[in-house]
Amino acid sequence: MKIYLVTGGAGFIGSNFIIYMLKTYNNIKIINVDKLTYAGNLENLKEVENNLNYMFVKADICNKKEISRIFYEYDIDYVVNFAAESHVDRSINDPEIFVRTNVLGVQNILNIAKNSWEIDSGFKGEKKFVQISTDEVYGSLGDTGYFTENNPLDPHSPYSASKAAADLIIKSYYDTYSMPVNITRCSNNYGPYQFPEKLIPLIINNCLSKKVLPVYGDGLNIRDWLYVEDHCKAIDMVLKKGRIGEVYNVGGHNERTNIHVVKTIIKYIYENFDSAVTDDLIEYVKDRKGHDRRYGIDPTKINKELDWKPTTSFETGIKKTINWYIKNEEWLKNVISEGYKNYYKKMYGDI
Ligand code: NAD
Ligand code: DAU
Repeated sequence: MKIYLVTGGAGFIGSNFIIYMLKTYNNIKIINVDKLTYAGNLENLKEVENNLNYMFVKADICNKKEISRIFYEYDIDYVVNFAAESHVDRSINDPEIFVRTNVLGVQNILNIAKNSWEIDSGFKGEKKFVQISTDEVYGSLGDTGYFTENNPLDPHSPYSASKAAADLIIKSYYDTYSMPVNITRCSNNYGPYQFPEKLIPLIINNCLSKKVLPVYGDGLNIRDWLYVEDHCKAIDMVLKKGRIGEVYNVGGHNERTNIHVVKTIIKYIYENFDSAVTDDLIEYVKDRKGHDRRYGIDPTKINKELDWKPTTSFETGIKKTINWYIKNEEWLKNVISEGYKNYYKKMYGDI
């Protein structure tokens, strides 16, 4: 039975990944290690919490003792690292924690995994460390072209710079020690259990409570949207078939402007749930500092080498997502804790 150490598994993508893996395989064990920051929520994992192949350990990836103990107690086969501070706006307000978790924390688990897996002749068994990185490490695109794995790293925010730093440290462990690693760089995810500070759940949440819908700058920045389950499938394929030492971009040519995304959500809620939700709620607000204009993934490598392609179009995925948040309004209310309310107030004024 392969043992997966999933770090940051109580967050958005990590929890979707754990649920997907336990639904797909009954012969694996998953240990979810999460510090439970504001973004980590064990409610996301309710449907698997009693699964005998799943266990949760509250720990910080920066903590040597806690992480070493897990490697001492379990013969971990795979590490899938989702743990991170993940919100660009927060990184602009307070960069330090981003360097701590996203750089030093990654180096800590990487090093502990290396020490536990390394033998005289190389590395034991079929071990692998997969880092969940981001397309933001490539910086920003103009009107044409796409990010390929060969694009130079050119991050602009403290968040993306911290993710790029981690990518380089991981690459150095491959170059120096031949450690079995892969890095995935995915575009913007959306779907169930995303914390409502990110564009799509924030807009859905504000529509449901008739609050202002803040659109940064001119609303014409472009993101390449991927339904979270498609990302989870890609990670599973990289774990199983990814060539050691390689980087894989993950995305599916679903580029949309922010204002298109916002208006799509309004229209669907207006037509299906509440005719009081209209474009009048939109408010153009001050732009994000250093705001990347456009992201767009070239998925040729993962498509050709691993035969991965997304199965959910943006039009289908956004409807599924809105329906999920409406059905799970209680979840939305619960995650908006006091701490988050203060942050929200600072960013957007009274709730
Ligand atoms: P998230 O913020 O929803 O979840 C992050 C999780 O990490 C939380 O459960 C949090 O408690 C945990 N965590 C934070 N610091 C920790 C620490 N020091 N030790 C242990 N756990 C800690 O993030 P997400 O959106 O699910 O993103 C997951 C990963 O995927 C991140 O590494 C992010 O950079 C990357 N990524 C995200 C997207 C996206 O669109 N959301 C796209 C591409 C890549
Ligand atoms: O591309 C992958 C990245 O996508 C991940 O690495 C990050 O972890 C994830 O947070 C996401 O980053 P973005 O900055 O692209 O996502 P966010 O949802 O914060 O913003 C999406 C776009 O919407 C961006 O152009 C900023 C804009 N925006 C965002 C918010 C929160 C608004 O116009 N209004 C808002 O209120």
